[in-house]
Formats: sequence, structure tokens, C-alpha cells
Amino acid sequence: MPELSHMLAVSTERSVAIVLLAVVVVGWAIYVFVNIRQAKAEAGSEIELAPNRGNLPDDEELEGRRLEKVQAFGVLMLLIMALVLPVYWMLEGGRRSGAETSFSEAAVSRGEAVATAAECFDCHGADLGGARFAPVVLDIGHQFSDKESFVVNTTWEAPSLDDVFTRFDTDAETLDEVSEVRQILVYGRGVMPAWGLEGGGPYNDQQIDDLVAWLWDNRITDEEAQARAAARYETEFAAQRETNPAVTQGEVLFDLHCARCHTPRWPGRGGAQLPNNGGTIEVLPGPDGAGRYGPALNSVSLQRLFPEFEDHVSFISTGAADNVAFGQFARLGNYGMPGFGRVLSEREIRAIAAYERNLDPQRQAAVGFDLLHEAGDDE
Ligand code: HEC
Ligand code: HEC
Repeated sequence: MPELSHMLAVSTERSVAIVLLAVVVVGWAIYVFVNIRQAKAEAGSEIELAPNRGNLPDDEELEGRRLEKVQAFGVLMLLIMALVLPVYWMLEGGRRSGAETSFSEAAVSRGEAVATAAECFDCHGADLGGARFAPVVLDIGHQFSDKESFVVNTTWEAPSLDDVFTRFDTDAETLDEVSEVRQILVYGRGVMPAWGLEGGGPYNDQQIDDLVAWLWDNRITDEEAQARAAARYETEFAAQRETNPAVTQGEVLFDLHCARCHTPRWPGRGGAQLPNNGGTIEVLPGPDGAGRYGPALNSVSLQRLFPEFEDHVSFISTGAADNVAFGQFARLGNYGMPGFGRVLSEREIRAIAAYERNLDPQRQAAVGFDLLHEAGDDE
């Protein structure tokens, strides 16, 4: 909870500063008051009491007690400066980040208001932990060979957002370094509409920044994301094993982390409502890795792109950065492919890479299109 400690640091500093200020102001007030009173008493009697005529202390006192008093006062002042300056310097860092934090706290609450208006929660889950049945209106006509246009009200799995910074902007240490998530929000992503004006959406730059600050504030730690991924793996592996005893770790991990972008209709597998009360249809995912938002992945495409297995593994770990070349032909990334190195172990990433390197392009092409059928049909 860095935010809380910043706030505490800020308020302690502030109290210390106020006390110091009060001491200084009161001290000065007393000093000035006493001085004026003394001056008043002397008014009109300058000649008699002229300093050089008055009773000045003798040499013994001047060079003795008095000198010592003045010196002691000097030493005391020096000590105060020596102590206060380093303390001030120590607290300076806290004061600055405190200011940053309180700024972003305002941004976070504005961001939350935008998110509520935009209904981010409806799709991404009330706790931003992802939702299986996000409602979307979808034209999936282009996914079928025999239909130009096919509009369905369907449900679509929307990814968790509390861990989005473990996948995108994985190097960002501060909010200022976030660019990929910002880009995704401005231009939309897959079936999610654009939110920024530049992408044709409703929100200006400031509002997008606020959304990013809000997401950043809601991020979970890598450890929490890893624990959640591990728990989901256990459940999913056990479930798939029931129907397919030979299922591999790589396949299950692929389903959990990659299929939503690389397998046709995979996030829509919850079913769809046909228009005009036409009933329900099942939306069945296409063959693993046949390509959706992300390109098709198979033994041919991946052997060409990453002749070295290690390059393939490290690409999955870091993902694609905007305009940074990857693979054999130095293709430029474009914010699309997330990095998984902060959530999955190297062993798990190797298992996925091995699985997708074995996917059969023939099967991906052949089992293409007749995957939509009326629920209740026996075929
Ligand atoms: C209509 C449902 C819907 C709404 C509303 C919605 N999203 Fe999304 N969002 C999705 C889906 C679905 C995806 C995944 C894209 C896909 O599968 O094609 C996604 C992807 C994302 C991603 C990329 C994450 C990743 O790992 O791929 C971010 C970031 C995001 N949404 C943020 C937001 C924010 C912030 C809001 C509110 C301003 C919002 N979304 C509103 C459905 C929605
Ligand atoms: C949010 C969507 C998304 C997810 C999730 C995703 N990818 Fe990707 N992937 C992409 C996109 C988009 C590209 C194309 C590169 C780009 O545009 O930057 C890509 C490219 C790739 C490539 C290079 C192939 C090529 O032809 O460019 C590999 C390999 C890959 N992804 C593997 C994976 C694996 C393994 C996972 C799961 C651990 C995964 N992807 C999850 C979107 C995604």
C-alpha cells in the first residue's frame, strides 16, 4: 500500500512543518514585542541613555560571561541548522511523491467515474477480475464461409483488467511509462470498441489518462496474478482431463492464456442469441490457434518466424512492443501481443511454445467453417 504510506508521510511532515513554523513565528513575535517595549521605555531619553553614555558592562564581563553567551547562542543556531537541514532533505522525497500521489488520486477517482459511465465493469467483471459472459453485439458473418453478415447478441469472454499491466507495459514502473494500455483504450481492441476520440470513441485525452490512472491504481501484484493463474490452471486441467486424458500442460495453458486471441470465436463459446427472437445458437470455437485477433500459429508459420525455439520462448515472455521488430523477418509489433513472463514460469512458456509449434496447419484450414449450429440440433 504505497499510497497510504505516502499520505502518512505527507501528513506527518506537514504537522512537523506547522509546529516549526509556529515556534518560529511566536519566537519572532516575542522578540519584536520585547524590542519595541524596550524602545518605548527609552523614548525621549536618548541623550541620557545614549548607548555610549550608559553603564556599559566592563571588559571582564564582555570577554567573559557575555561572550560565552553569544558564542553558545551561535553554536545552538548552528546545531539547529545542522539538524533541521538533513531532516528536511530526508523528507523532501516523501513530499514530492506525496504530491504526485494526491494528484493521481484525483485522477483515479475521475477515472473510476468514466469507467462507471462506460460500463467497463459490465464486461470486465465488477472486481475487474474478468467476466465470462460479457454482452456484445457481434457481426460474426465473416467467420462463416456462407454468410456475408450475421449479427448476434452474444456473450464474449472479456479479460481481467486488474492484471493488465502484467501483460502490457510490462516494463513500466510508473504511471508515466504506460503507453500500450493507453493505446488499447484509445483505439479499442478486437470486439471492444474504441474509447478515445482519436479512435472514434467518446473520451478526450484527459479522460483516457484518468482511465489509465484508475487501472494502474487497481492493479494487483505479480504474485497475486501468478496465484490466480495457477489456481485456474488446476481447475481447467482437471476438467479437460475428464474428456481428454491425454491433454498436455501446453494445451491447457494455451486455452487459458492464448486462445482468446489466437483461436476463432473462442471467447464466444458461451452461446449467442439469434436476432428477432430466433432462439439460441451455440458459438463453437474454431481449431486451436487458427487465428482471430492474433495471427494463426502452427508448425509451419512458427518454424519460419522463429527457427530457434529459444527465440519463440522469449517472444512469448516479452510480447511485441510497438514498432519493435521480432522474428526472422523482423516484423514490427503493434501493441497486439502481450508478454507473459511476469505471470507464467519459463517452464510453462516452453510447454506452450512446444504445443503451438506442433499445431497442424492442414487441420486449421480444413476444419474451418461449419461450426455454427442451432442449439438443440443433435448434429
Ligand atoms: C462490451 C463489453 C466491453 C466493455 C464495455 C469494455 N470492454 Fe474492454 N474488452 C472487452 C473485450 C471482449 C476485450 C477483449 C477483446 C477481444 O476479445 O476481442 C477487451 C479488452 C480490453 C483491454 C485489453 C486487455 C487484454 O488483455 O487484452 C483493456 C485494457 C480493456 N478492455 C479496458 C476496458 C476499459 C477501461 C473499459 C471501460 C472504459 C472497457 N474495457 C469496456 C469488452 C469490453
Ligand atoms: C490480447 C491478444 C493476444 C493474446 C492473449 C495472445 N496473443 Fe499472441 N499475438 C497477438 C497479436 C496481435 C500478434 C501479432 C503481433 C503483433 O501484432 O504485435 C501475436 C503474435 C504471436 C506470435 C507470433 C506469430 C506471428 O505470426 O506474429 C506468437 C508465437 C504468439 N502470438 C503466441 C502467443 C501465445 C503463446 C500466447 C499465450 C501465452 C499469446 N500469443 C497470447 C495477440 C495475442
